Amino acid sequence: MYYFIEPMTEDDIAEVQEIEAQSFPSTWSATTYKRELRNTATNRYLVVRMSSTPPPPHPENTPNLRRHGILNHIMSAFFPSTHETTQQYPIIGYGGVWLTVDDAHITTIAVDPRYRGSGVGELLLNGLIDAAYDLEAKMLTLEVRVSNTVAQRLYVKYGFLPGGTRRRYYTDNGEDALIMWTERIDTPEYQALLSELRRQLYTRLQQQVTHTNPKIMPAPEFHE
Ligand SMILES: CC(C)(COP(=O)(O)OP(=O)(O)OC[C@H]1O[C@@H](n2cnc3c(N)ncnc32)[C@H](O)[C@@H]1OP(=O)(O)O)[C@@H](O)C(=O)NCCC(=O)NCCS
Repeated sequence: MYYFIEPMTEDDIAEVQEIEAQSFPSTWSATTYKRELRNTATNRYLVVRMSSTPPPPHPENTPNLRRHGILNHIMSAFFPSTHETTQQYPIIGYGGVWLTVDDAHITTIAVDPRYRGSGVGELLLNGLIDAAYDLEAKMLTLEVRVSNTVAQRLYVKYGFLPGGTRRRYYTDNGEDALIMWTERIDTPEYQALLSELRRQLYTRLQQQVTHTNPKIMPAPEFHE
């Protein structure tokens, strides 16, 4: 199976809301999504699509998310062309990030429950990290339910550390939010961590592809 990331568009909202409804106790309205998507100066929203055949190749100059030189080696393998419509490929995950001053705040991330545990959440997080670089953020931050240890493990893997709590942050059950932060993401240390994690993720995703078709997806070159 192939997974690839694209910027979310207004046409994707209904599909995204289906995953959201299966992932969170409350959901955003279509109007909220539209407002978020239009605010392109500070926001980036992404979807992951799935395909059983290789998605169309991406052109060199799009989208902006891949522009950041250091980190494009993995993600580029998964970006399709924006010249061809990709609506026929189902959305299986989505996520978003906002820039507030120097910090990229991950606002949401979720994977269709049927496709969890296959690296899709990790792929999405990498897309959001690339978006944060694109927005020239210095650090990443997010809130996560204290009980959500699955998501916390993903974040810890990518260098997020607990930085405090917000008491009774979630209105549905009064649960506290754990605030998590990375160190600066523009350091060689963070970029080395990311590079290594991407190597591992690429191998994991490639195994899923080669399982269905051994001839495709040549390994990309990894370099800082
Ligand atoms: C959190 C979420 C996005 C992870 O997506 P996913 O595709 O299932 O995760 P991946 O397969 O990419 O796994 C990446 C990492 O997440 C963690 N993880 C995933 N599933 C896990 C599980 N069942 N138990 C513990 N850790 C788990 C691990 O650290 C894993 O890395 P590893 O395989 O090296 O151990 C997904 O579980 C989800 O949509 N949850 C509901 C929505 C949500 O809670 N979003 C976060 C809001 S803050």
